[in-house]
Amino acid sequence: MIASSRDPKYPSALRDLGHGLFFSSALKLVALSAVLLAGALALAPDAARADSVEEAAQVCSGCHGENGVPMDKTIPVIWGQRREYLLKELHDFKTGHRKNETMAAIVDSLSKTDMEELASYFSKKQWPTQEQPAPPADVVSKALAVINQLNCRDCHQDHFQGDYVRPSLRGQSEDYLLKTMTDFHTGERANFPAMSALMKSLNEDQLKPLAAYLASLPPKVPSISER
Ligand code: HEC
Ligand code: HEC
Repeated sequence: MIASSRDPKYPSALRDLGHGLFFSSALKLVALSAVLLAGALALAPDAARADSVEEAAQVCSGCHGENGVPMDKTIPVIWGQRREYLLKELHDFKTGHRKNETMAAIVDSLSKTDMEELASYFSKKQWPTQEQPAPPADVVSKALAVINQLNCRDCHQDHFQGDYVRPSLRGQSEDYLLKTMTDFHTGERANFPAMSALMKSLNEDQLKPLAAYLASLPPKVPSISER
């Protein structure tokens, strides 16, 4: 259940955040999480259900961005991501299969229907451009060597655009990519055994070039003439 922002019990920090008036991109994630978590956790259990998915999505925008550009590069893009993937992740955060304190607190109050609606809503949005410049050629070749050796494209598709539960990686936030691959590597993220095995087979120095390369790919899949 999500509180309505018109509900007087709805915490004001969360309401301001939902309307995007309160935060500037300069704010650090730590501050953002503290305020939001306090707000999210303070929601009364009997709080009214959000009137619409748009209203529920305002809470997400506080971190994942009003226009789809996350507040910080440690936060993933969810606009335009695969619906089935988004839904699986929300479910995994809820069951603890994927561990993250921030997202666990957020999904705690969401029903199965809320999660389905939010996954559909965000998957239909257009993936934003994040202006993450291409890394130098030697970094690109280090990334491509790993990509070709471990056949990342077999699952994430030829242009890393993803498919069904395989997420799109193009233009994903660089620091987030590095963090989540490191989490698979260390075992902190363990919600898909094949990804864990692949990331454990690499050493940590190999992850940074991968993150930089994948983040720099423009959201739009190139047309045949541009390849
Ligand atoms: C307080 C900030 C914050 C808010 C609010 C928030 N998120 Fe997140 N979200 C994060 C962070 C940080 C991560 C990365 C977690 C990790 O590193 O494992 C994340 C991860 C996710 C992921 C996984 C994406 C991926 O590529 O694996 C999904 C899906 C998601 N959030 C959806 C939502 C939805 C839907 C809402 C609103 C109901 C929401 N989030 C609200 C901070 C937030
Ligand atoms: C066997 C199929 C498969 C292969 C091969 C594979 N992946 Fe994945 N990858 C997945 C699936 C499925 C997920 C989603 C895991 C989950 O359920 O959370 C994923 C998730 C990821 C994520 C997390 C994205 C996010 O938004 O959180 C990254 C980053 C990633 N893969 C990078 C890679 C890279 C780099 C390679 C090659 C070294 C690779 N993958 C190879 C199937 C694969």
